[in-house]
Amino acid sequence: MNLSNNTVLLTGGASGIGLALAVRFLQAGSEVIICGRRAEKLAEARQRYPGLHTRVCDVADAAERVEPVR
Ligand SMILES: NC(=O)c1ccc[n+]([C@@H]2O[C@H](COP(=O)([O-])OP(=O)(O)OC[C@H]3O[C@@H](n4cnc5c(N)ncnc54)[C@H](OP(=O)(O)O)[C@@H]3O)[C@@H](O)[C@H]2O)c1
Repeated sequence: MNLSNNTVLLTGGASGIGLALAVRFLQAGSEVIICGRRAEKLAEARQRYPGLHTRVCDVADAAERVEPVR
């Protein structure tokens, strides 16, 4: 799997294994978007790892899974 030059979306990326994967992809040179339900956890991750893109989203909610980015 090529970790570089990809655009990667990681659900549950604000902590734990999701964040660890996000950081690996980011450090390898990919654009990384993480999502989770808590805005403050996403902001914490973005502050710690500048370059991460974040989006508040509950993937258990079908409407939020398909909501377009504005
Ligand atoms: N197979 C393995 O070897 C292995 C190893 C490690 C972990 N895992 C599994 O991987 C999963 C994550 O583990 P973890 O330790 O990384 O847990 P964690 O630190 O609690 O991370 C879960 C992340 O998912 C987010 N999340 C939870 N529900 C969500 C939802 N409905 N929509 C969007 N984001 C959601 C949480 O943020 P919010 O609460 O803010 O949404 C949190 O950031 C678990 O199921 C664990 O069992 C498996």
